Amino acid sequence: MSAQISCISSTCSNTSFRDRFAVHSLGFIESSTVSLSSKFNGNCFIKSLETRRIYKSSTVCSALKSSEQIELDTGLSRRVNLVKPSKTVAISDQATALVEAGVPVIRLAAGEPDFDTPAVIAEAGMNAIRDGYTRYTPNAGTLELRTAICKKLKEENGITYTPDQIVVSNGAKQSALQAVLAVCSPGDEVLIPAPFYVSYPEMARLADATPVILPASISENFLLDPKLLESKLTEKSRLLILCSPSNPTGAVYPKELLQEIARVVAKHPRLLVLTDEIYEHIIYAPAVHTSFASLPGMWDRTLTVNGFSKTFAMTGWRLGYIAGPKHFIDACNKIQSQSTSGASSISQKAAVAALGMGHAGGEAVSHMVKAFRERRDFLVLSFRELDGVKISEPQGAFYLFLDFSYYYGTEVKGFGLINDSESLCRYFLEKGQVALVPGDAFGDDTCIRISYAASLSNLQTVVDKIKKTILTVKAHASV
Ligand SMILES: Cc1ncc(COP(=O)(O)O)c(C=O)c1O
Repeated sequence: MSAQISCISSTCSNTSFRDRFAVHSLGFIESSTVSLSSKFNGNCFIKSLETRRIYKSSTVCSALKSSEQIELDTGLSRRVNLVKPSKTVAISDQATALVEAGVPVIRLAAGEPDFDTPAVIAEAGMNAIRDGYTRYTPNAGTLELRTAICKKLKEENGITYTPDQIVVSNGAKQSALQAVLAVCSPGDEVLIPAPFYVSYPEMARLADATPVILPASISENFLLDPKLLESKLTEKSRLLILCSPSNPTGAVYPKELLQEIARVVAKHPRLLVLTDEIYEHIIYAPAVHTSFASLPGMWDRTLTVNGFSKTFAMTGWRLGYIAGPKHFIDACNKIQSQSTSGASSISQKAAVAALGMGHAGGEAVSHMVKAFRERRDFLVLSFRELDGVKISEPQGAFYLFLDFSYYYGTEVKGFGLINDSESLCRYFLEKGQVALVPGDAFGDDTCIRISYAASLSNLQTVVDKIKKTILTVKAHASV
């Protein structure tokens, strides 16, 4: 944890160092345990410095002599320590290690379409490079793209914005994080229906806000109960995050349910809504997407996040956006101006082409959606045959969130106890060579997530492997 460094400053009197350190302590050290075993004259030496939060350790160094050695405090900020690492990373790393070792693992953990970016979009990106369109763009995105986004939001979503009410970012994830940072103050509560997209609670923590999880069960098709929302509202409630179609469940909020939620929201003086609509076009009729901001009275309170990654198979292009009242959007713009600045000029040109492909992405996108639907149907049918597994048929996105808790509590010889989604996914990985994501990462430990952004033949193999593997668990359970 600690590293030795040489210091540059030549003066380090006993008192001056201590004084300086004390000043910095007051300003920059919080809830820390500082143990200094030091000689403050002559060969000044700090042997140990333990703290949970020091921002200006370099200032300490500058007070020391050039030839002197101190142990650098490598502690991290309280904020970053509060943020949980992604559990999906652990399973992905394990899967990658197995693949590298030559094990034929089928990976269904990723949240990205298995299709290439449609040719017309790729061509627009290449043209941008050829035409030398390779410089910084305005921070909020090009006027051309923001105008195209306004047109899309008006025509497809029934919500009216002007270009100064849009900020384009390096992916919808950045758009969402900036919105959370822009509106939440320390101690504010962020209401998050579970199962949730992994990053939402951590975004709240990054803003020093408190995530308040609102569980929705498989028997409710993973949809938030407005009464539960109402019961959890306090004066600290600041932001409700909705995601429809949902990652990880594929649930789509019907308009009537959103209207009920809107009625609850409308009664609260501070509550805003961040609605993540990135999967809006990956939806299976008769399900229909409704933009929350289009509901009566909700425009003023709603921040709509969307992006190009999923609908247009553009994950690597890193492009998302947010739309909302100017006051909030200006704040997002300000945050972005001091972090990443504008998104890639090339991706923005490509995005204009994407939005020009027709309603809901036109032919190319409907072709992908058709394939996703076929895969969903195949998986739902296959898993319905499996004993004990509960399913809520997804209406959108490309994930299946299956309740496997029936198999928990089983000791498997040579493996150990399967007692949660994480151990079950490890078991599927080790014994079935299939990489899935534990539901725990999404706030529901009874389930596991299967991404069906994979070919039907791969999915067929996966189903066979899961069935075979789970039979071993069952056999152990009945011993
Ligand atoms: C619900 C949801 N929102 C946002 C994102 C992030 O998208 P982007 O690639 O645009 O950052 C994802 C990606 O998995 C997602 O599933």
